[in-house]
Amino acid sequence: MTLVKPRAVSGGEHEHGHLEEFRTDPIALMARVREECGDIGSFRLADRDVILLTGAQANEFFFRASDDELDQAAAYPFMKPIFGEGVVFDAPPERRKEMLHNTALRAEQMRGHATTIAREVERMLARWGDEGEIDLLEFFAELTIYTSSACLIGTKFREELDDRFAHLYHELERGTDAYCYVDPHADIESFRRRDEARHQLVKLVRHIMAGRMANPPTGKDDRDMLDVLVSVRDEQGQPRFSASEVTGIFISMMFAGHHTTSGTAAWTIIELLRHPEVLGQVVTELDTLYADGADVSFHALRQIPNLEAVLKEALRLHPPLIILMRVAREEFEVCGHRIDPGDLVAASPAVSNRIPEAFPNPEHFDPGRYLDPNQEDLANRWNWIPFGAGRHRCVGAAFALMQLKAIFSILLRDWEFDLAQPSESYRNDHSKMVVQLEQPCAVRYRRRARPSQD
Ligand code: HEM
Repeated sequence: MTLVKPRAVSGGEHEHGHLEEFRTDPIALMARVREECGDIGSFRLADRDVILLTGAQANEFFFRASDDELDQAAAYPFMKPIFGEGVVFDAPPERRKEMLHNTALRAEQMRGHATTIAREVERMLARWGDEGEIDLLEFFAELTIYTSSACLIGTKFREELDDRFAHLYHELERGTDAYCYVDPHADIESFRRRDEARHQLVKLVRHIMAGRMANPPTGKDDRDMLDVLVSVRDEQGQPRFSASEVTGIFISMMFAGHHTTSGTAAWTIIELLRHPEVLGQVVTELDTLYADGADVSFHALRQIPNLEAVLKEALRLHPPLIILMRVAREEFEVCGHRIDPGDLVAASPAVSNRIPEAFPNPEHFDPGRYLDPNQEDLANRWNWIPFGAGRHRCVGAAFALMQLKAIFSILLRDWEFDLAQPSESYRNDHSKMVVQLEQPCAVRYRRRARPSQD
C-alpha cells in the first residue's frame, strides 16, 4: 500500500503559504488543520510543509521519537541569531544536552532557589505603595529575569543587573518573528532590534567580565558561573570564551524558562481574578498553610493542591509554547499518512490541550480537573502537554512550578488584586514565536489587611 501525504489545510495560496496567517492567528490556523484534516494535516510555512500532529496517538509518535528521527535543533531557526554561534542549537547534540540539563536544576538545589526567589519577589514588591497599578508583562518579565539569573547563573551576577538587562532581553524575545522561516536575517524591524539588543547585552556582559578579571574572587564560595567561564583558558593561555559566547551561554540558559514562567504567572493572576470563587479557595488554602509560621522556601517545595490545580489549568488554556517543532530525518507512517525526510513536523500544546474528548468543556477554566479523582493531566499524558512530553519534556518543569508557587504564596498573602481592564481584553500577542501578553495588561493592587492571627 502506498501511503499518501497528509491533507493540506485550506488557504495558503500566497507565495509564503500560510505564513501571514501563522504570524497573526497561529492558534486559529492550527485548530483549522485539526478540524479539516484530523489528527494529521499540514500547512505551509514559506517553502516548507509543516505536518501538524494533534491528539494522543499522533502526539505519542512525536514525543517518543529520537533526535535521529525527528531533529529538534534544525526546527527552530529563530533561536540561532539570539543564542549566537556555537551555543545550544548551534552545537552538536551531546554538547547541547550537557548545556541544557544544567546542574542548577538538580533537586538538592531547589530549597536554595526557593529562598532566592522569595527574596527577589520581596525586592520587587518593596517598590510598591499601599495601592497602585502594574503592567503584568513588565512586572513578571523583570521579576523572572532576576530569579532566573540568580538561580541559574548566580546571585553575584544577578546583583550586577538592573532593568536594562530585562528590557534588552525582551527585545530578543520580540525578535522571534515567524518570518525567520523565510530568512532569519531578513531586514525587518524586529530582527534589527533583536541584533541591536544582543549587541548591547554583549557590551554589558563584557563590562561585567572586565570587572571580574580586575577583581578575581577571593575564595571558592565567592565564585559564580561567570567567574568560572572567565577563568577558563585555551592552550595559548588566552580566555577560552569571548563576551559574545558568554552572553550566548547565559541567554540560552535563561531563555527556555523566562517568558514561559513570566507568561504563566500573568495568566494565573488573570484567571484567578476572572474567577473570584477560585481565588477565594486559593487564598484560604495559603492562609491555612502559612499559619504554621513556616517560610515560603518550605511550602513552595511541598504540595499546595488548589494553587497547583490553578497553575495547571492556566498552563492548559494558555500554554506559553503553542507549537513544538522538529525536522523529520527519515520516512515515517503516522496515522496512515506519510512523512518524508526534510518535512517540518509539529505538535501543538495550544490545540491538544483543548481537545474535548480529553478535556470535557475544554474552553472552561476548571482547576477541579486536576483534583482527585479526575487527574485530567495524568489521564491525558499525550494531550496535556504544556511542558511537552517524552524525550524533550521540559527539564525545568519542577523548578517552574516551585517558582510559581513561591511567587503566588507571597503575592496572595500580602496583596489583593483587581482587573484594571475589561476581562476579555487580556489576550496574547501572537505576532512572534515567543508568545507574550498583549499590552496594555494592567491590574490594580492593594495591600491586604492581615488576616487575624487569633
Ligand atoms: C523544554 C515548556 C519552564 C528549561 C520545554 C518544552 C516545553 C516547555 C513545552 C518542550 C519543547 C519541545 O519539545 O520542543 C515550559 C513551560 C515552562 C517552562 C510551560 C514554565 C511554565 C522552564 C524553565 C526552564 C526550562 C524554568 C529552566 C530553568 C527547558 C529546557 C528544555 C525545555 C532546557 C529543553 C529540553 C530538551 O530539549 O530536552 N519546556 N518550560 N523550562 N524547557 Fe521548559
